[in-house]
Amino acid sequence: MKRLDGKTALITGAARGIGRAFAEAYVREGARVAIADINMARARETAAEIGDAAVAVEMDVTDQASIDAGVAATVDALGHIDILINNAALFSLAPLVDIKREDYRLLYDINVGGVIFTSQAVVRHMLERGKGGKIINMASQAGRRGEPAVTIYCSTKAAIISITQSMGQELIKQSINVNAISPGVVDGEHWDGVDAFFAEYEGKAPGQKKKEVGESVPFGRMGVAEDLTGMAIFLATDEAKYIVAQTYNVDGGQWMS
Ligand SMILES: NC(=O)c1ccc[n+]([C@@H]2O[C@H](COP(=O)([O-])OP(=O)(O)OC[C@H]3O[C@@H](n4cnc5c(N)ncnc54)[C@H](O)[C@@H]3O)[C@@H](O)[C@H]2O)c1
Repeated sequence: MKRLDGKTALITGAARGIGRAFAEAYVREGARVAIADINMARARETAAEIGDAAVAVEMDVTDQASIDAGVAATVDALGHIDILINNAALFSLAPLVDIKREDYRLLYDINVGGVIFTSQAVVRHMLERGKGGKIINMASQAGRRGEPAVTIYCSTKAAIISITQSMGQELIKQSINVNAISPGVVDGEHWDGVDAFFAEYEGKAPGQKKKEVGESVPFGRMGVAEDLTGMAIFLATDEAKYIVAQTYNVDGGQWMS
């Protein structure tokens, strides 16, 4: 018996990176998954590589009609939704004097609004079905403390911790557990972009920022997406049913609380 046998999950931003690793791990544990992403070509490719237990679903988490269509398409393909992972997010970096309002709006729309309104659509489905569910939000160590020139992104991730607390307390009466995972620095395409941002703003050579952050992690290296899958599986199982409104650090020892 696998730990997620018979379960279904909708994972936003799962075409690549951490979301993809979650999808692969869930399928290994017996679940069927919807790879929900704005990048449909990549989502299709990822679903095809994972196999029959994965479907690609088009979803832009900033657009209500797209969220509703994506949730409906997931229910059509998988029958129902037991687990939602709110994983899609965007990073930006700029000194305060250079911050652009459109950047602020976009990051809040994806990172914060995306979590609230995708959860809303999936929770409506879960309540109608009456069998509870699990919601896992992706926070970040960036939400635990600010960082120079990362004002917008850090504040969106702090919001995720707060949203997880409110949603967690509100929904547990309906047997919907809401919790969050707070990664540290996780290598992949996302961090290639972060490294490029720092190269621009701090005059670092490409790869230098990654090297520095990896060395600063108590574990001794940057994380990889697979370092997070154990927590994502655990929070989706019945073993975690008494865990409510929490944010778990999975970060190699970076943040201790
Ligand atoms: N990589 C890290 O170091 C790190 C650290 C802490 C937290 N996190 C968080 O983990 C999550 C995944 O990070 P990642 O590194 O895999 O990111 P990533 O950039 O590799 O992947 C993000 C995915 O989201 C999708 N996406 C972007 N906008 C979307 C939208 N509007 N609607 C739907 N999908 C959209 C992208 O197409 C992409 O597939 C994010 O919430 C991120 O903030 C990452």
